[in-house]
Amino acid sequence: MPDDRAAAVVDRCTEAAATWLPLAGPIEAQLAPLNDVLFPAAGLRPGESVIDVGCGTGDTTRRAASLVGGTGQVLGIDAARNAIEHARHHPAGTHDPDTAPITWAVADAQRHAFPAAAADAVISRLGVMFFDEPVEAFANLAAATRPGGRFCAVVWTFRDESPFLQLNLTVAVETAASYGWTLDAGPPDAAPFGFATDETLGILAKAAWEDPGLRRHRVPLYARGPGTPPETIADEFVASGPLASQLQGAPPEVVEAVRRAVREELTTCWDGRGVRLDASVAVLTATRA
Ligand SMILES: C[S@@+](CC[C@H](N)C(=O)[O-])C[C@H]1O[C@@H](n2cnc3c(N)ncnc32)[C@H](O)[C@@H]1O
Repeated sequence: MPDDRAAAVVDRCTEAAATWLPLAGPIEAQLAPLNDVLFPAAGLRPGESVIDVGCGTGDTTRRAASLVGGTGQVLGIDAARNAIEHARHHPAGTHDPDTAPITWAVADAQRHAFPAAAADAVISRLGVMFFDEPVEAFANLAAATRPGGRFCAVVWTFRDESPFLQLNLTVAVETAASYGWTLDAGPPDAAPFGFATDETLGILAKAAWEDPGLRRHRVPLYARGPGTPPETIADEFVASGPLASQLQGAPPEVVEAVRRAVREELTTCWDGRGVRLDASVAVLTATRA
């Protein structure tokens, strides 16, 4: 019987993806350095079967397919219909005998009926912090993994530990306040940011994952990828960033002051190649009991 909750997750993720998909290329370039912490920890080997959870447009799915090679197989699952559609049509999705075939699925990974105990590894880059029932979700992923199989996911730590996530917000809030206007960036541990904790390790343990562990990394990222100038990032922040809906209600002089202040701050982070800011992430790992 179709699950209404899963259908609601698909609708919600598809709607959310419509806002970031136009920036899919710059976002992939921006997040690429996180692959250098994900894949060494995941230790994918030729011939393995891998599930990439919350795979988005499939950058990590394609990387996994090349690591497990032609004898492996990879499932990229995401609840956003439009993100999977984008992934399916990526130019790299051609028939390369040295690369594993990729199956794409539009589904809520929390409730999807995966083949039982078939995966050698479950990986994710920033795709496991959104579950409404985390124990149920991680138990479902455990059931999809063979005994001894691995879980490896990159997650954000608290938002205010990452200048990459926090700097624009702080500048915007302070600038608006200097005009007597209040912007609320929300708590730094609100989802998807409060996930690199002992509580999450407890959730993994309850969900049939053994030896859960968490390793923190500080990774410099280029905002919207190398080459994107501060002006572009500031304009986008004002138009569609996390405070955009609040800024829509602000007087034009406040909006322009925020845009200018963000641009000026980001200009100080330009290193000749791009706007470079540190991100704080953690790699969660565990083994299927
Ligand atoms: C921050 S994006 C990361 C995308 C991709 N992994 C990357 O690194 O580019 C999070 C992704 O998780 C997906 N997602 C959120 N909840 C999900 C769920 N319950 N099942 C499957 N995918 C989900 C979203 O649709 C989104 O594409």
